[in-house]
Amino acid sequence: MKSPAGLLLSAIELDRASTIPLYRQLYLQIRKQILSGKMQGGVRLPSTRTLSQELALSRITILNAFDQLIAEGFLASRTGAGTYVGNEWERRGTADEEQQRQPPRLSDLSQSMLSLRSRHFRGVSYTDWDPATPTSFLPSHSSYDAFPLAVWRRLMNRHLLKPTKAMLGYGELQGLQALRVAIAEYVFDARGIDCSAEQVVIVSGAQQAFNLLGMLLLNPQDSVWMEDPGHIAARIALQAQGAQVIPLRIDEQGIDLRQGLAECPDARLVFTTPSRQHPLGVTMSYARRQALIDWAAQYQSWIIEDDCDSEFRYSGRLLPALYAMDRMARVIYVGTFSKVLFPSLRLGYVILPQALIEPFCTLRAVMDRSPPTLLQATTADFMREGHFLGHIRRMRALYQARQQALVEQLQRQLGGFFNITPVDAGMHLIAWLPPTLDDDAIARELARHNIHTYALSDYCLEHALPPALLIGFAGTPESQAQERVEALARALSQMGYLQQAT
Ligand SMILES: Cc1ncc(COP(=O)(O)O)c(C=O)c1O
Repeated sequence: MKSPAGLLLSAIELDRASTIPLYRQLYLQIRKQILSGKMQGGVRLPSTRTLSQELALSRITILNAFDQLIAEGFLASRTGAGTYVGNEWERRGTADEEQQRQPPRLSDLSQSMLSLRSRHFRGVSYTDWDPATPTSFLPSHSSYDAFPLAVWRRLMNRHLLKPTKAMLGYGELQGLQALRVAIAEYVFDARGIDCSAEQVVIVSGAQQAFNLLGMLLLNPQDSVWMEDPGHIAARIALQAQGAQVIPLRIDEQGIDLRQGLAECPDARLVFTTPSRQHPLGVTMSYARRQALIDWAAQYQSWIIEDDCDSEFRYSGRLLPALYAMDRMARVIYVGTFSKVLFPSLRLGYVILPQALIEPFCTLRAVMDRSPPTLLQATTADFMREGHFLGHIRRMRALYQARQQALVEQLQRQLGGFFNITPVDAGMHLIAWLPPTLDDDAIARELARHNIHTYALSDYCLEHALPPALLIGFAGTPESQAQERVEALARALSQMGYLQQAT
């Protein structure tokens, strides 16, 4: 008669053609039987000699499997008494019980198990677009094909080949001094901002700045003016701090200050995109800028100026940053390298009024540390050695040409369906749809055809606008504009929309 363990072991099936070594197959199968409870603690195993005969394996193979099982506590061996199933794993239960002990999935959790603030993040999509998809018109994606990778690699290697201690350590909390100096010089020339490197703090992208600023400046229930339509991720970051959002409509001069003054004059903070209103593209007028600063000074409110892609202006006047007009130290400027270099770099910067430097840095030390020094040093060299401005100039010309090519194709192929507004600045245009259509449904259906756009209504809170799609042009080479718009037209036709339009 075989022992219980012997019976089970004779059920072991080895695949001699497999690339998994035989000792490992044996190890895995014995372990599985112990974990599932089929081999109970204390049960004695047949001798290695018997097993070697039954399983037609060398004793070395069996000893190798046993050694690992003994090391992990699945088996125990006593000199002269043989090898036993260890007791440590005895009460592990059956496979079914194991299954029941799986941690619950998030969908099984009730909201009460999560913090109140977590409800703001529900429904936020974190899946990214696949860069291999050729028909994506997502607005925030730039021209990765035109990035000067050879230069970047050379600059990065310079630091990699001679790493300093600073390169491997935590780095300066405010960010690398060389990068802060380069940014202070750049914003002075390009945006009229007169600040010292001490006022510049490097962050992991603008989004981190919005979260940190919300944490630093807002109390629960504080009112915040937000542009409507406006930047979704920034709104959620501020709402997550318990802020009450007051959505202000956009007119031809930018955010409607009169509405804010009428509804909630003492808002604690306003979030705005003056150089290119996101997503509509309006430039905030000079008068509106002055009025906003005067209001902030009167109520001691803060202005967060998101200036994410002011580099890409093709026509019209680029006004200096709001920060540059502020004599009352109410404006906090947020810039990013996501658009002008590439988003996975995760480098952005905040330019702070003097009084906020120390509290902002203290908070940053708690939430995170400075971004990778290697990337900051490479970016600093890229700026200092003239590549940055050259890259911006080239990208500006490239994006302008790309917008023109895409607009031509959209008008030629889909002119009866879309009403296109080319833009003076930024990386996306607005394609207005026939007024009865649902832009959100269309964007979702297009995504199922592997064509990615955003619906304008997703950006709107209270002030509904006619339906439209945001169509990014920066990622579409001129030579591919025709075929990509053909794919878009084909999808719309299959979805039955083009018949409705004609
Ligand atoms: C309006 C706006 N601001 C800022 C950002 C930049 O975010 P980050 O620097 O975190 O990549 C984006 C990114 O898409 C944006 O659309």
